[in-house]
Amino acid sequence: MDTELVGAQKTLSPVLRAKALDNRLPDPILGDTYAEQVMRRLDHGYDTRRFGTSQLGLAAVVRSKAHDDWAREFLAEHPDAVVLHLGCGLDARVHRLDPPATVDWYDLDYPAVIELRRRFLPARDHYTMIGSSVTDPAWLERVPRDRPALMIAEGLVPYLTEPDVRRLLTSVADAFPSGQIQLDTVPVWAWRVSKWDPTLRRYGTRFHCGFDDPAALAAWHPRLRYVGEAPMFDSPLLIAKAPAGTRRMYRIMNLLPGMKRSSRIVRFRF
Ligand SMILES: C[S@@+](CC[C@H](N)C(=O)[O-])C[C@H]1O[C@@H](n2cnc3c(N)ncnc32)[C@H](O)[C@@H]1O
Repeated sequence: MDTELVGAQKTLSPVLRAKALDNRLPDPILGDTYAEQVMRRLDHGYDTRRFGTSQLGLAAVVRSKAHDDWAREFLAEHPDAVVLHLGCGLDARVHRLDPPATVDWYDLDYPAVIELRRRFLPARDHYTMIGSSVTDPAWLERVPRDRPALMIAEGLVPYLTEPDVRRLLTSVADAFPSGQIQLDTVPVWAWRVSKWDPTLRRYGTRFHCGFDDPAALAAWHPRLRYVGEAPMFDSPLLIAKAPAGTRRMYRIMNLLPGMKRSSRIVRFRF
């Protein structure tokens, strides 16, 4: 890999790895063949090191499935939507969902990540990649703003500061006539301890915000309405699909309410 990823950009890799390993299960949750192909190109020996093919990251796959299901629902209701897939990493959501040509889809991440995307993932019609930080407001000027918007931020929000998240949500709600915003967050304690998280430390990053009540983000804009939450660590799908050892780990984790809600997937409409 010639393109050097730094800091938060590196966090795309464990999520992709989880999706790649899911695809090798006999009855996968996401069934993303792109994830397996791209992961192999990103890191040829991804399944041969410590924890090999263990499905420790399966909760991230459940999170992805929840975002996919909500996105499918919104696109079925709004076939003229504009999709803003922010902090897309190397996720192949546009290919998994395969929206009709009436949908315009934008994948946005840092320029270095978008460069990798262009190498590893195919182009398609009505699909645009934008290499920019989500915190630079200029990217919104490149997107048609007269149609319903679907904003998806999977695994992104904890890497932004609270003022940046607020600016993002309010500028999207201001820019479009209607839409859905789906994102996931961590609680305040997880944000605070993230500076000691060994994986994040290795990547040279940490979380920059946390919310104990993500539904309360709706108060940031008069048109934002909280719709609901999808389960993650206690998802019946996760418990059903995880191999025995991993299932035990999630069951123990779910006995601790703070851990059970250590990542929350929520959606809003406006
Ligand atoms: C945990 S990864 C998730 C990737 C992808 N959404 C997925 O679920 O597979 C976080 C992603 O957010 C991106 N990211 C973090 N901060 C960003 C920012 N300010 N602007 C754009 N992308 C950002 C990183 O580069 C990385 O690709």
